[in-house]
Amino acid sequence: MGYTVSYQNNATQPYTKMTSGQKTVKPWGGRFTESTDSFVENFTESVSFDKRLYHHDITGSIAHVRMLARVGVLPENDCGQIIAGLEAIEKDIDAGLFEWRTALEDVHMNIETALVERIGEVGKKLHTGRSRNDQVATDLRLYLRDETAVVRILLLEVMRVLVDLADREAQTIMPGFTHMQAAQPVTFGHHMMAWYEMLLRDVQRLDDCRQRINVMPLGSAALAGTVFPIDRHYTAELLGFEAVCRNSLDAVSDRDFVIEFCAVAALIMMHLSRFSEELILWISPRFGFIDIDDAFCTGSSIMPQKKNPDVPELVRGKSGRVFGDLMAGLTLMKAQPLAYNRDNQEDKLILFDALDTVKAALEAYAGLIPAVKVNPEQMWLAAVQGYTTATDLADYLVRKGVAFRDAHAIVGASVQYAIHQGQDLAALTLEELRQFSSLIDADVFVCLDPAGSVNARDHIGGTAPTRVRQAIEQARKELSSMRR
Ligand code: ARG
Repeated sequence: MGYTVSYQNNATQPYTKMTSGQKTVKPWGGRFTESTDSFVENFTESVSFDKRLYHHDITGSIAHVRMLARVGVLPENDCGQIIAGLEAIEKDIDAGLFEWRTALEDVHMNIETALVERIGEVGKKLHTGRSRNDQVATDLRLYLRDETAVVRILLLEVMRVLVDLADREAQTIMPGFTHMQAAQPVTFGHHMMAWYEMLLRDVQRLDDCRQRINVMPLGSAALAGTVFPIDRHYTAELLGFEAVCRNSLDAVSDRDFVIEFCAVAALIMMHLSRFSEELILWISPRFGFIDIDDAFCTGSSIMPQKKNPDVPELVRGKSGRVFGDLMAGLTLMKAQPLAYNRDNQEDKLILFDALDTVKAALEAYAGLIPAVKVNPEQMWLAAVQGYTTATDLADYLVRKGVAFRDAHAIVGASVQYAIHQGQDLAALTLEELRQFSSLIDADVFVCLDPAGSVNARDHIGGTAPTRVRQAIEQARKELSSMRR
């Protein structure tokens, strides 16, 4: 090859030494006479990023040899030596003492080669009845199963702090918006609990997705299964898998679980991005609805007056990458014939990026939400100035016998009058209001008051503070049962 460029895959965790090791003997080198082109070696390697699977790779290998010993394929003594060797290797990796070699391609061959170097010939028996194809699929599922637990904990934490904020501001009034125009008064607590509902669905989706992650491909070998009398249920039990993949061709090639996780992550990011958009608007002095603690904001290097909401802006920005990961996963799979193809090596870059990004964004929100300080006066003013109780006035007239469409027209005229007077509706006198309908009496002012407006919406899903408090109480129960 004529290339002089040096190629390195997207190494995400450069915490261990990498060597290029030109003369390394490849575990698959038997039928080759020439050594690998150095560009190809760098182009095809995955160890720079899949070394993050090492713990799960070793866990999978230990279960595999235990099973081989149990069914009599491997003598107990060999099994014991292999396990001791793998455990020692894991300790070395944990301690940062392991030398990762690019020439050995991936995490699997790095560990297997190190095992043979450490315990000798017996290490060569580890790969009996197994292929890297079922091995990598197993590792990835084990890894993602653990990581979904982390994402779940972070989601529940964001939900917890959201509920606390909703509780603090259960009866604080703000304008609710449609089309970004002030629409009707709502409580800030109600608004926070809307965000809670979105995240609750995210937890449910994550739990659902986990069921399909937690199925074991191991035993499918390269694609067709193995001639050895393996006991897949035993291996699955050792690894905590709920089921065993039922078709070997599907098992080694399926990456639906990666795509599903990316879809879950994309929805979480979409939700966080929507929250971000609101926080960014609300902290702008034009709104002034909230402030965010200095610790969660940043300044400008040129404009001394600035306090910028960079954390929510970055979350909003990062959502795009995770949506991209979802598309990348779908595209990765769309043209692959059965069974395993090397394309699948790219699944890890996609998955790791989605995982790292969604975890960071959730962690940011767990800190950001408690840092939000609301400005009730400003929100109240915006609710009042936005004529947000106009619908309440129309409903008031309907209760006095006016047809809704007529009431709408009457209130429209009174809003026009109020705008002309530079007043909000509640500031008009009874005489002024009665110009538009003689049915209006002194009791109208309760409806024109945003507090009266929210209190009146007292039903399941309504914005009344009593209902918000009920929703909060229910959410707290839900959270503690989900944490179990
Ligand atoms: N590094 C590979 C991957 O991530 C492992 C499986 C390789 N299998 C193979 N037949 N070359 O997919």
